[in-house]
Formats: sequence, structure tokens, C-alpha cells
Amino acid sequence: MTKSFDLLFGPVSLLCVSAILAFPVLAEKPAPSKGETRPVPNAQLASKELNSKVEKLLKQMTLEEKIGQTVQYSAGFATGPQGAKVSYDELTEKGAVGSMLNVYGAEKTNHYQHIAVEKSRLHIPLIYGFDVIHGDHTEFPVPLALACSWDGKLIEGVARTSAVEARADGVPWVFSPMVDIARDARWGRIVESAGEDPYLSSALARAWVKGYQQDDLSKPDSVAVSVKHFAAYGAAIAGRDYNATDMSDITLRQVYLPPYHAAVEAGAATVMSSFNSINGVPATANPYTLTQILRKEWGFDGFVVSDWGAVGELLNHAIGPDGATVARKALTAGTDMDMEGNLYATTLAAQVRSGAIPESVLDEAVRRILRVKFALGLFEHPYTPVTPSYEPSTANRKQARDVADETIVLLKNDPIEGLGAILPLKPGKTVALIGPLADSAKDMMGSWGALGDPKFAVSLKTALQEKLGDKLLYARGSEVLSGQDANVLRHVSFIDAGAGKAGAKEEPAPDETAMIAEAVATAKKADVAVLALGESADWMTGEASSRAHLTLPGRQEELLEAVAATGKPVVLVMFTGRPSEISWAGAHVPAIVEAWFPGMEGGHAVTDILFGDVNPSAKLTTSFPRATGQEPLYYAQMPTGRPAGKTDLSHIPTDSAEKFLSRYFDVDNSALFPFGWGLSYTRFTYSQPSVNKAEVSLANIAAGREPAVTVSFDVTNSGKIAGTEVVQLYVRNTSASVEQPLRELKGFERVTLGPGESKHVELPLGFKELSFVNVDSKWVVEPTTYKVWVGGSSLASAEASFVVK
Ligand code: BGC
Repeated sequence: MTKSFDLLFGPVSLLCVSAILAFPVLAEKPAPSKGETRPVPNAQLASKELNSKVEKLLKQMTLEEKIGQTVQYSAGFATGPQGAKVSYDELTEKGAVGSMLNVYGAEKTNHYQHIAVEKSRLHIPLIYGFDVIHGDHTEFPVPLALACSWDGKLIEGVARTSAVEARADGVPWVFSPMVDIARDARWGRIVESAGEDPYLSSALARAWVKGYQQDDLSKPDSVAVSVKHFAAYGAAIAGRDYNATDMSDITLRQVYLPPYHAAVEAGAATVMSSFNSINGVPATANPYTLTQILRKEWGFDGFVVSDWGAVGELLNHAIGPDGATVARKALTAGTDMDMEGNLYATTLAAQVRSGAIPESVLDEAVRRILRVKFALGLFEHPYTPVTPSYEPSTANRKQARDVADETIVLLKNDPIEGLGAILPLKPGKTVALIGPLADSAKDMMGSWGALGDPKFAVSLKTALQEKLGDKLLYARGSEVLSGQDANVLRHVSFIDAGAGKAGAKEEPAPDETAMIAEAVATAKKADVAVLALGESADWMTGEASSRAHLTLPGRQEELLEAVAATGKPVVLVMFTGRPSEISWAGAHVPAIVEAWFPGMEGGHAVTDILFGDVNPSAKLTTSFPRATGQEPLYYAQMPTGRPAGKTDLSHIPTDSAEKFLSRYFDVDNSALFPFGWGLSYTRFTYSQPSVNKAEVSLANIAAGREPAVTVSFDVTNSGKIAGTEVVQLYVRNTSASVEQPLRELKGFERVTLGPGESKHVELPLGFKELSFVNVDSKWVVEPTTYKVWVGGSSLASAEASFVVK
């Protein structure tokens, strides 16, 4: 007995035990100090005065009127499969509808609003919701592009302009921001996201909410946001839209939830539940995410709207035998409003009457909806003054162009022998502009273009024409998709899925062989060829646009290779809504620009970058794969027991040391262009980083005394022109109870420097940056050593470290 005790708890072990008892081994999220109540994320929604108005109204409502508030219909065009046709005038008058979507413009919104306010018994105004995603009329770059600016102020500005325009259209509620973490480029909706990283996405989520809501919903030019799609929609298995997601609670909380949480903390008034299931429970009927996490843990006081038809789709998820059951599950889980599902309208009344649903559950949903209506001031100002139809002002155009300038990523700009780097293009040269995206104003607008009108958009051809006059040659070169598919893109639109279907195949398929030959001939006449290639914004990116092949669609790769074979210097400009697989171009094309879908001023912005009128500063927020089979691909990989480490993975394994590793045997593990990557026409260099404390006390971090530690370094513009660098800070927790990613972004800043100029940068790390989710689903910090790196991408190599004790 004594022996085994000694063996188990010998003098050394006893020392360890007492050390463990003497020092905390883990620090949890700082709790509010004594007497302090949890901060409410949105003080307006929590206000006593507002809530007493809500209660007073609720008391007067009949069961049917209460249910009416939870019902939303699309009284405009459809953005999903369409349900039953109903008379909206009649429903509004009866108080049987609380909200409408896809209705906009003073005339239409006032029409129903007059009925609701003047003819319905309790005069409760409708709340109109609309997909204002990256601009309403003034069209900005798609959200994935906006994220590449790494610029919260810029995004706030985009949200502000969008809110002003939406409000003038009678829309006080936007279905934005989409903050789903997206790590799989096959998923079409990656275009609506901020990309793969929780830290960056959270920062940008806060900016979106601030820009739309201005910390005051009652301002006449504020709009309520709907943070979507809650939750983990971006993790759809195999990148197939609407598919299930399945993940550990740790991954859910540490990777997928932070951006939604950041938006809620910033005061988001509403949240949209997602189509997918999470670990077997559909998100629209998921009490764990909608009640436990969103309401109980985060203190959310606003309301949850389902995604389009998602309550009805619970039947397809087969979590109940009939509409009544699934509607009950959705409502009791915390989905307050049924968007186009038509199940709350038709099944709740009987269930409340029978006692299957306690009336208190319905009351709570109605309360949440009424809170937002009151906070927005809809009771006082239900109508929208008629405004002149939209014309882009000089200021709108300038903002759209300045914003787009910050979102275009220079991926590659290798020198060519004897010529140096092709970009920026030199004046006086003849440029051959080639490609199906070169003259497509419509595609500049991106997916979910709200009310943006392509007639105001500037294509690359138009902009280059202005700049170069007769020094610009042009050939379309190919279609986006080839053969008959090309006709589908000409005739079928995402929003109005039925239109033009019949006519889609009537035209003969374009002769792309001749088009490619013409493009080659055009390139031969020029000094440089600019190829504008990519995807159809409307049809191939966004919702319901998953792709299993991420290569250039149709015959565009063939076009690119044919033009490159002329020996003329080639610049590839990609207009896409996702990272593409462009390995051939990566190896053979000297200059590559990712322009995404850059908005109404897209052509001008790309021209600004091509000619160096603007020095590119954008950085990728999603990794570009070498092969589609690497997806989902992201930089924050977990360690493995068989890391590839420094092994050269560029060739097939030739012995067991190269083979039995966590690797592909036919492609390198790494991204072609990684997260954080983006070049400039100048060069930035970094000093060795230092930390202000070699040892940081766990107690300090736990007490929330932030920053616990500061990482500082100098960044220098060592080139000849001014430029902006997005400096990035990555950390690795080298020893934790739960394995942690090999590196994670935990700080960044945009730094603008003149040639030769340096700046001393300090980036703080505190509980938020250093904590992780443990096996008990708690955010904690443990004793460990952190490595930190600073640099201009996720490949950052300037390193330091500190200890947490
Ligand atoms: C989309 C949402 C959108 C909603 C309303 C759905 O199909 O998933 O993102 O907000 O439609 O248009």
C-alpha cells in the first residue's frame, strides 16, 4: 500500500499536486462582477418603456392576431420555391400577416401599410424585409470581396449607404449580414460570406451591424439587420447547398458561432435560422442553438425569422409526421416568424387551443417581434415618402469605386524576363481584352444584387475603352459555359427561375472554336492580353450554386492557354464568387488579379488596379485550392499525429517516410494562394516581433484585464511607392487540453505607408484572443506557451513567443 502510494504520489508528484492546488489551472470567461447584471446586447429592445408598450398591446390581441404577427409572406418576387397564392390585402386587413418580404418602393409598401395601420383592428404596422446584401441600388462588391478589404470602416460605410437607400424604399429590415463561416469553395454561398476565419468574420460582422443599425434603430435611416444563417450553414457537408452539417460542440462554438455572437453583441435586432440541420437537429427547430445559446447564453432579445420555407421543409427533414408537429417544434425551439412556410398561419391556432402549444410560447414570439417594430419606430412612422427614382450620384459612384479598389486582390505579379513585372500596365501599349466577363456589366453586380440596375454598371471593357481609346482591342473569346449551357445563362435568371426557360435552348450553340481563334488573332495584334474570365454571378454563385469542379467553367481554360501560347504577356483577371482552382494559371500566367464581382463601378476599379492608379491592398479571406479535392481548405488546420512538416510534398511519395503522412499523394497540402495573401506594387518588410511580457499571468487574463500581452513590431514600406498593408498577427497555443489549430488569426490592422516609411504597430491579446472552448463547452485559458507570428499573410514567419502561467 505504502509502496504503491509512493509510486503514485511520490515526493515529486506531491509537489505537482500542491502546485496545481496553489495556482489556477484554467481561467474561464470573466463573469460580471458582484452586483453587475449581464450586459444586454441591445438596450433598446430591453428597455422597460418599450416593453411596457409591447405588453399593453399583447394584452389586447386575439389568438389569431398573435399568430398573424408570426407570419411572413413574399408579396413580391420569389427567392425560393413558391407556396400558396393568397390575397395579401385581405390577410393584412385581418391582421393575419405581420411581415412581408420582397416588397419595396414607397408605392407598394405604403399600399399594404395603409391597410395594416388603418384597417386592421389593432393598427399594427407590417415590417418589410428585403435581401440588401451588398448594396440596395448603389451596388458594391459582393460580401466576399468586401471582406478582402479587412476594413471595418469601409464595410460600415457600405452598410450605411445601403440602409439609407433601403429605408427610402420602405424597407426597414435587411436580411444581412450573412456571417456564416465558409471554408468550402464548392458551396456557392461562400460569395455572401466573409470567408473562412472566425476572428476576421466577427470583426466585420460588428461593422455590418453598426453601419446598418447605427446603435439606434429609431433613427429614420437605420435598418434592423437579420444575422444569417443561424447556425453553421456554411459547413454544409460536401459543399452542397442546404445539406446537413455535423460537428463537435467545440468546433461549433469556437469556429462557427463567434461571428453570429459578435453580431448579437453589437445589437443585431433579428436573426435568421438556417436551412441545414446541426448534428441531426434542423436549425429551424433547434432549441440548443435558438434558445440555449442565442437567448440564454447570449441574452438576445430580438426575434428569429426562419429562412424561406424552412419551417415547411422540416417535413422533408422528417422530424415530425405532419405540419402541425413541425411547426410546434420550430416555434417552441425559438423560431418566431415563419417566412413563406405557411405553417404557423395554418396550424398554430388549433394547437394553442388544444393546449399542445402553451399560449405563453406564442406570446413570447409575438413579444420579440413587436419589440423590433416598436424599436424601429414603425408605429410612429409607418409610411415612406415617395422619392424620385434612383440615379447614381457622383458620391455614390465614388464610394462604389473607392470600395471596390480596396477589394481587388493581386494574387501574382511575377517578372517576365526582359520586361519586369507586367503590372501595373504601362501607358501607350495596345491591350487585347479577351473573355466572356470582359463586357458583362450585369455580372459586375454580383449575386443578390437587390435593386441594383445593370444599366448603371461599368464593365471592364467600357472602363478600358475610356482609358485607352483605340489602343484597346477586344474579343469575347468564349462563353462562360459552353455549348447549349451558354444559352441557359443568357435566358434564365436566378430570381425569376421560370422566365425564358422555354426559349433557352432555341438558339444554336455559339461557335466557340471560332471565338477562341479570333481571340488568339486579337492577342497577336496587341502588346499585352488581359483575360477577363470567371463565373456567371447570377447563376453560378450564391444560393443553390454549389459546384463540384472549381476550374474555369466551359472552354475558358482552353481560351486562356491558347492566348498564353501566343507568347504575349498575359494578365488574368478573375470575376468569380469563390476561390477557383487555377493551378495552370498559377504556374504559367505571370499576373493574376482576383476581382470577384466588384459592383457597379467594377470596370473602373479593375482599371485603377491594372494601371496602378490605385495600389492594391486587398488580402484573401478564403484559401485558393491547388485541386478541388482539397476542399474544405482553410489555413487554421488542426495538428495531426503525422504532420507533413517540412517534407517536400510537390511529388509523389518515394519512400515510407514520405508516404505515411497526413497528405495527398498527388497534390501538395498547401493552398495555391493562402488566407491573408495579397500583393502590392510596393514591398513591405517586418521586424522581429516582441512581446511586452515573456510571462503572462492566467489570473490577469481571467480578470479580463486586457490587453494581457501586447505584440509589437515595425512594418516598413521598402518599395518606391505608397501603399497599404494589412498586417496580420497569428498565434498558436502549443499545449492545451484540447488540440488547437496550427495557427489562428488574432489581430490585424491596415497600415498606410509612404515609400521608405515605417510604423510601429502594437496588437493586443486578451481573453478573447487567447481562450478556446474546452471539453465542457466553456471558453477557457490554460497554462501554456503561445507562439506568435506577424506578417502579410497566413504564411507570416517573423516569430516570438510568451508563456501563460
Ligand atoms: C435565402 C436567404 C434569404 C431569403 C429571403 C432564402 O432563400 O437563403 O438568405 O434572405 O431567401 O429572400
